[in-house]
Amino acid sequence: MTIRLGDVAPDFEQDSSEGKIHFYEFLGEDWGILFSHPADYTPVCTTELGYTAKLKDEFAKRGVKAIALSVDDVESHQGWIQDINETQDTTVNFPIIADKDRKVSELYGFIHPNASETLTVRSLVIIDPNKKVRLIITYPASTGRNFNEILRVIDSLQLTDNYKVATPANWQEGEDVVIVPSIKDEAELKERFPKGYTAVKPYLRLTPQPNKD
Ligand code: BEZ
Repeated sequence: MTIRLGDVAPDFEQDSSEGKIHFYEFLGEDWGILFSHPADYTPVCTTELGYTAKLKDEFAKRGVKAIALSVDDVESHQGWIQDINETQDTTVNFPIIADKDRKVSELYGFIHPNASETLTVRSLVIIDPNKKVRLIITYPASTGRNFNEILRVIDSLQLTDNYKVATPANWQEGEDVVIVPSIKDEAELKERFPKGYTAVKPYLRLTPQPNKD
């Protein structure tokens, strides 16, 4: 199955390094990051999972739960977690799904047969509290993901879900944002953006991030 932005994220039950996971119960009302990696005991994946563990407080601040996945089994995950903890100077604090039968990988399209017939690719899906898919990325096996970018996307999604704004290229928390083009009425603009705005072009209007003092 192929999932696309806006789809409802498929629910599932599967084994993991922390026991059986019922995905929707695991997520609860939080945001979720489900990310696949090609295999346990591989160098890039070791750094990715270690870095993700170190972001625990950043995820908690944003109400996000992380969960990893590969087609290795629980025993393999548990042994590898010890290596990650040792080499990355952290404690893995999220489950790794043991998708031996590829049930979840197939639901989420994490196997790309032309890349590998058997291994999951390096994909990541952001799921919102309504269980909607909000971001899908897939990286080559040779390139580790930038998890700071994932936090940046979550900040953008959480902001733009609540205000009629979008975030420009390379935006970082606290920087100016753009007003969505559909708002044209001056009274509405004043009400929604009391700090004012700069119209660089009629369609490109910058305003201070609305939820910052
Ligand atoms: C890695 O995680 O290091 C890796 C996995 C598959 C292919 C190449 C690198």
